[in-house]
Amino acid sequence: PEKVMHKLVSLAKRRGFIFPSSEIYGGLSSCFDYGPLGSEMKKNIKDLWWNAMTRRHQNIVGIDASIMMNPTVWEASGHVASFNDPLIDEKTTKRRYRADHLIENHIEKLRRDGREDHALAVRQAYEQASETEDQNRALYDIIVSEEIKAPDTGANDWTDVRQFNLMFQCNMGAVAGSGGSVYLRPETAQGIFVNFHNVREAARMKVPFGIAQIGKAFRNEIVKGNFIFRMVEFEQMEMQYFVKPGTQQEAFEDWREERFNWYTEVLGISRDKLHWYRHDKLAHYADLAYDIKFQFPFGIEEIEGIHSRTDFDLKQHQEYSGKNMEYIDQTTNERYIPYVVETSSGCDRLFLALLSDAYTEDIVDGDERVVLKLSVKVAPVKAAVLPLMKKGEMGERASKLRDELAASFRVQYDDAGSIGKRYRRQDEIGTPFCFTVDHQTLEDNTVTVRYRDSAEQERMPISNVREFLALQLV
Ligand code: GAP
Repeated sequence: PEKVMHKLVSLAKRRGFIFPSSEIYGGLSSCFDYGPLGSEMKKNIKDLWWNAMTRRHQNIVGIDASIMMNPTVWEASGHVASFNDPLIDEKTTKRRYRADHLIENHIEKLRRDGREDHALAVRQAYEQASETEDQNRALYDIIVSEEIKAPDTGANDWTDVRQFNLMFQCNMGAVAGSGGSVYLRPETAQGIFVNFHNVREAARMKVPFGIAQIGKAFRNEIVKGNFIFRMVEFEQMEMQYFVKPGTQQEAFEDWREERFNWYTEVLGISRDKLHWYRHDKLAHYADLAYDIKFQFPFGIEEIEGIHSRTDFDLKQHQEYSGKNMEYIDQTTNERYIPYVVETSSGCDRLFLALLSDAYTEDIVDGDERVVLKLSVKVAPVKAAVLPLMKKGEMGERASKLRDELAASFRVQYDDAGSIGKRYRRQDEIGTPFCFTVDHQTLEDNTVTVRYRDSAEQERMPISNVREFLALQLV
């Protein structure tokens, strides 16, 4: 698995998908930049999500809220008090860990070793810990009594457990009430909740309706690593669906199904690499939560959360802002604070899932190759136009085809090196089709189309190429 990740990271850098942030200065932990192909592919992912949410649903509209908000938002949302990780330091190595992760991994290990009864006992103690008054102490006691060791060094002289808030705080001139401190949002969702009435009124929405948003979120994650899987600055694609209380279960099930199908049917992710996970331990706002997890090279990990958030957020904002958050049903005159079903996907994690799902090494025409088997919709470059020979009429015909296609699709023109080398270059970045202008083109106005996955070729009239590509993208 490490080898696969190593290959992905190196391909991503070499071909311009992802670079370490500020690399010439040694980088910055957990921060990355998307390069020419990466930004193209990320934009495709976001467009596909946006279309699936807002275009396919008449009752979902989008917004783009600001990253910084009035700091009271985060008191109301519970993030100031509860958006914490329990941390513990190992005294001799001075390394920092998440206490909950140490315990969860320990339980896993007991299971793997066949010590099912012991694992169950620790799990019970762990679950009870979250309900005791002194949670930190309870977590510490488990770590010490189980003699849990630091995973990488084996040391085990632990400090106390302390809660560490994940929100980034920064200063903004003078902001009333909070000593000038504002937060970088740790989730995009709150921008939607506080705009509930603005959007409802402006877009004349009736419950049930949804608000969708794509944007950056920030979390001061302590445990870093695994490339773009866990970042401190990342992008979320979130949708809050407002429903009448009592109907949330049905909405939850509908969204669960729809979101899962999006990954398989629209993005083409392998069905057998996706898993459902039901949360036992819930975030402070949720009463039911499922994750869609993906089989990454380093393990099965979350890419999207689907949460039933009840009326928690709107109620809190009503209390803290003093503004009425009720909805009035015009036909029945009923008043209520809507319940919310949320779908929350991480764009960067999904990007990594798509890359690792697509990464393939195989043999074509007797040659080993690396190929990204990305779906046509996700692929950063949709087609390559390749003149068999650089100069003369072939070059002219090929440039003309490129210009024609470039008006609607991201295409690349490549006339450098042997045709085999050019195919390999395109395979490695996941370009689904290569159109080659050759001798026969000059005689009968056809080109060859080469299919990335099978490496098979066939001829088609040059005048059909545009429509051929367009049909692949519907
Ligand atoms: N509004 C709900 C919410 O934020 P979450 O489960 O904390 O829920 C949703 O986050 C998604 O955001 C996750 O499934 C993941 O894809 C992404 N995400 C969360 N933290 C991340 C991080 N540090 N780096 C990259 N993506 C992250």
